[in-house]
Amino acid sequence: MLSENDVEPLFDISALYRHYAALEQSIQVNEQSTKTTYRSPVNFIESMQKPRHRWFPYKEGFSPSFVEDFLTAGVSIKDGLILDPFSGSGTTALVAGEKGLRGLGYDVSPLTDFVARTKAVTMSAAELNDFKSHLEGFAKSALDKRAPTPDNETVNRYFEPVVLDALMRVKGYYLQIDCPKAKSLFKLAFLTAIEPFSTHRKAGNGVKKKTNYSFLESSQDSIRVLKNFILEKLEMFALDIEQTSRFSPPKFLQQSCLGSALPSEVEDVSAVLTSPPYANCFDYSKIYMSELWMGDFFSSKMDQKNFREASVRSHVHATWSDRYTEFGVPVVDDIIRPYIETQKLWSPRIGSMLSGYFADLGNLLTNLKPRLRSNAKLGFVVGNSFYGGVAIATDLLLAELGRSKGYVVEEVRVYRGIIPSSQQYQKLGNNRKYMRESMVVLRRL
Ligand SMILES: C[S@@+](CC[C@H](N)C(=O)[O-])C[C@H]1O[C@@H](n2cnc3c(N)ncnc32)[C@H](O)[C@@H]1O
Repeated sequence: MLSENDVEPLFDISALYRHYAALEQSIQVNEQSTKTTYRSPVNFIESMQKPRHRWFPYKEGFSPSFVEDFLTAGVSIKDGLILDPFSGSGTTALVAGEKGLRGLGYDVSPLTDFVARTKAVTMSAAELNDFKSHLEGFAKSALDKRAPTPDNETVNRYFEPVVLDALMRVKGYYLQIDCPKAKSLFKLAFLTAIEPFSTHRKAGNGVKKKTNYSFLESSQDSIRVLKNFILEKLEMFALDIEQTSRFSPPKFLQQSCLGSALPSEVEDVSAVLTSPPYANCFDYSKIYMSELWMGDFFSSKMDQKNFREASVRSHVHATWSDRYTEFGVPVVDDIIRPYIETQKLWSPRIGSMLSGYFADLGNLLTNLKPRLRSNAKLGFVVGNSFYGGVAIATDLLLAELGRSKGYVVEEVRVYRGIIPSSQQYQKLGNNRKYMRESMVVLRRL
């Protein structure tokens, strides 16, 4: 099969670009920057410097200051709910909580749901003291109880045997902690150690062998280094809990935001700030596979299958039954999908994935509308994609979708340009401007 780079467009796709141009005539496109270096709303580095946000490195997460800015500009919040239907590590709802507002986040991933809930923990002085005594106990422990290794040989092979043994001893330790809050904090610290102690790192849509991995020779070395790493994290958690005690804990639900109806918790929403997975074929169940298995979120292949099927159709690793077909975008179904299906791309499912992606988002926008306050503001951060030599302007198409569902499109705010790896990108000419990461701002009147 040809790679994406080798494919020549078979027919004239100019109707699509005319459609984009017409949309740009009726939508305010505000370019903050088109440089590929400009700081994006998704800024992992900033998160790693902020209390609570820094507890788990979720590279796909928002920067907290971006959420702050959104919640202070043009939003009448009062006691309304701040919702993130694709909440990931929970940044939107956590920032809402820091501002004393009600936050709610949904995510299909059991890992990110756990991360977000744990980051939202609050403790009384007595609970915090108890947690600190668990830290002392851990520091002194010989870690002689070992948890069983995951039932997934691929994941186990991402660790040196002595390191895997040390990790399972840490897990054996936290599994016997009675206090649920302390146990979750230990588990989160354990999860943050997975990538740094692995022989592989996250790269693109999977993992790659590290070139700079330093081997730990003995079992004692592994236990000592890992224990220090975990202790450092736990001490940071304790410090952050102490220093952010005036915090309204948000709520998180581990479930899909798609479907026939939203649960009753979603009511009186004054703002939505979210970032759905981009339509770029990234599969979160694969990228975070080690954490999902090591943390017992997955214990069989079925768990991964269920996760994939519940997620938005942004990747090609599941076979979805046709769903929400009535909610899509005509130009995607009538031009983009048939065009993509004539191309011999690396997966024959990309056309249907794109149709499905917009149908899923259309379903969400439709279900959300009756739960929003009038004048509620919605921000969707999206990255555009590129397949078969064609720019998929998710931002404009989502704005069009929002308008068709009765929202007002306030603006498409462009944050940065994206350069696809495909050489065909050069042939886009002026249409290269569509390769970007932006926020689509909608309003419910
Ligand atoms: C780009 S990330 C969001 C990151 C988030 N803004 C943060 O600050 O951490 C997108 C998230 O959407 C989740 N997701 C995918 N399909 C979903 C669905 N149907 N319902 C809810 N969440 C979903 C993924 O698991 C992923 O965590």
